[in-house]
Amino acid sequence: MDSASGVSDTPHPASPTRSGGRAHLLHELHEVQQRLRHVPRQAICDVAARLDLPISQVESVVDFYSFFHRTPRGRYDILLSTCTSCGHMHGEDDLMQMLGSRLGAEAGQTRADGQLSLGSTSCIGMCDQGPALLVNGLPLTRVDARRLDKLAELIEAGTPIADWPEEWFSIDDQVRQPGLLLDSPWQDGAAIRASLQMGAEAMLAEISRSGLRGRGGAGFGTGMKWQFCRQANGGERYVVCNADEGEPGTFKDRVLLASHADMLCEGMTVCAHVIGAHQGFIYLRGEYRYLLPALQEMLGRRRETGLLGPDILGQHGFSFDIDIIVGAGAYICGEESALIESLEEKRGIPRIRPPFPVTHGYLGQPTVINNVETLVAAAAIAFHGAEWFAAQGTDHSKGSKLLSISGDCAAPGIYEFPFGVSIRHILDDCRAEDVQAVQVGGPSGTLIGPTEFERHLAFEDLATGGSLMVYGRQRDLLAIIRNFAHFFAHESCGFCTPCRVGTSLLKNALDKVGWGHGTHYDVEDIRRLAALVKRRSHCGLGHTAPNPILDVLQRFPQVIEERLAQSGFEPYFDLDASLEEARVLAHRNDAEAHLP
Ligand SMILES: Cc1cc2nc3c(=O)[nH]c(=O)nc-3n(C[C@H](O)[C@H](O)[C@H](O)COP(=O)(O)O)c2cc1C
Ligand code: SF4
Repeated sequence: MDSASGVSDTPHPASPTRSGGRAHLLHELHEVQQRLRHVPRQAICDVAARLDLPISQVESVVDFYSFFHRTPRGRYDILLSTCTSCGHMHGEDDLMQMLGSRLGAEAGQTRADGQLSLGSTSCIGMCDQGPALLVNGLPLTRVDARRLDKLAELIEAGTPIADWPEEWFSIDDQVRQPGLLLDSPWQDGAAIRASLQMGAEAMLAEISRSGLRGRGGAGFGTGMKWQFCRQANGGERYVVCNADEGEPGTFKDRVLLASHADMLCEGMTVCAHVIGAHQGFIYLRGEYRYLLPALQEMLGRRRETGLLGPDILGQHGFSFDIDIIVGAGAYICGEESALIESLEEKRGIPRIRPPFPVTHGYLGQPTVINNVETLVAAAAIAFHGAEWFAAQGTDHSKGSKLLSISGDCAAPGIYEFPFGVSIRHILDDCRAEDVQAVQVGGPSGTLIGPTEFERHLAFEDLATGGSLMVYGRQRDLLAIIRNFAHFFAHESCGFCTPCRVGTSLLKNALDKVGWGHGTHYDVEDIRRLAALVKRRSHCGLGHTAPNPILDVLQRFPQVIEERLAQSGFEPYFDLDASLEEARVLAHRNDAEAHLP
């Protein structure tokens, strides 16, 4: 173990997170990556032999997930968040330059002495306390010039991360406004006890009656999902908590995992009782690996107190346990079928649906996948009853919604509102002034302007998985949607052509507009391409990736219009500028070495 690097300071996912059986492939690879700073060919062969997997499968997994590398990373591996909220709006480009010049390193490179690697990553879920970065996998928040100076000193001195100032790594919940869920009284075991007393059938009816709909974005009825799974033919059944929270601007699950993990576990256990499952999984995004020790401690405590494991609360035959599987930097693994592939130790490529996970999920068996917040709400409903929950919200969106609010407002953080609240009300509460636009539901959601601020947060109006990003007048919306286009092009898993190629072409076309070379011809091209990517892609990532572009074209056309060149057609790149390197090599800069 490389003590100077601080690698050993990071939580070790390879430690026994599973309730039984062998280690998970992702955990083995995390362990190798941390120990050797890359995953060499020999380690791939060793891991494949140990886990009895084909070498080709292990290789494909290493190449798929962005936190695994074939060549060594630096002893300090720094990844700056490029998210519009936890990076970009705080001047992520400037920070990258500052870091690069203080440390003598180039973005995207490992320094020649192997001391550090400098790179970027998508949203790391710290949007309310940005700018943020990951150092050896640990989130470091509120980065400013002073912190960067000190950080550079510590790196040059080889100081282990364990000896870096503790407050740099402190992450606040920042709950600004608790509501129905966050304010409700809670007792460990109460929801399970209620489920055991009522019986599985009656508890399912209670969840259905509450009107709870999935909080992961799509809003599918939770009671119906559990019922389909309960009725499905199959041997084992599984409960999976989707804690992959990767939508830029979303961090509410981080807070639930940090401070309400018992409720989450209880929701999973109630679900297990209803559908007849014995095994559950929490799929935790790699960026939240720092939460792992506390989550494992919580699972251990629940096993000791009879809330997890065999004969839960003395109920003979009701056994259920939970393993935590840590992801490795792939946004697509939040899509439920890709998540299952990842749980099955494969690349996170979305499956063809139907069949859906409720009948053919983990290992082909009936599986419920729910978002963290959905499961927390299910636990609260089991405890307090369906009426208590349904008393808030609208006809089609019952209960409350947790929002992660970030961007240009005086009080970013976590807010819980009853469904039906207006965007204007939310903006007032988080003290946002002179707002140009609001991105509801992250980049895959909806971008609206002030004329729509009376609209409501609800599945029947503006739906959101939990992200709400505020953009003040001073923000360049084109830069923001370019950032989103880069995000989707980077996160496309590459499985289907419309998304793999289309997201890259959209990114290139927006860059061209941003550089001042776009024409009306390009805008029409963008429209055609966006419609094609939406319609022809295989999964939800492609279906929603063009949303921000289409929203800007529809609601803020001037943002594009005023950047267009006034000619009929312009090439994607400046040919003369691209010949510069050749001119330097040839020591030529005369008129003939330039294009006319
Ligand atoms: C590209 C993509 C990413 C997603 N990421 C997440 C995620 O991070 N967390 C989540 O709960 N759902 C995510 N979803 C939605 C899941 O596929 C699924 O609908 C959800 O986990 C179901 O849980 P729910 O019914 O409780 O909402 C994502 C979907 C897509 C298409
Ligand atoms: S739409 Fe994109 S992310 Fe989804 S399967 Fe196709 S390439 Fe992969």
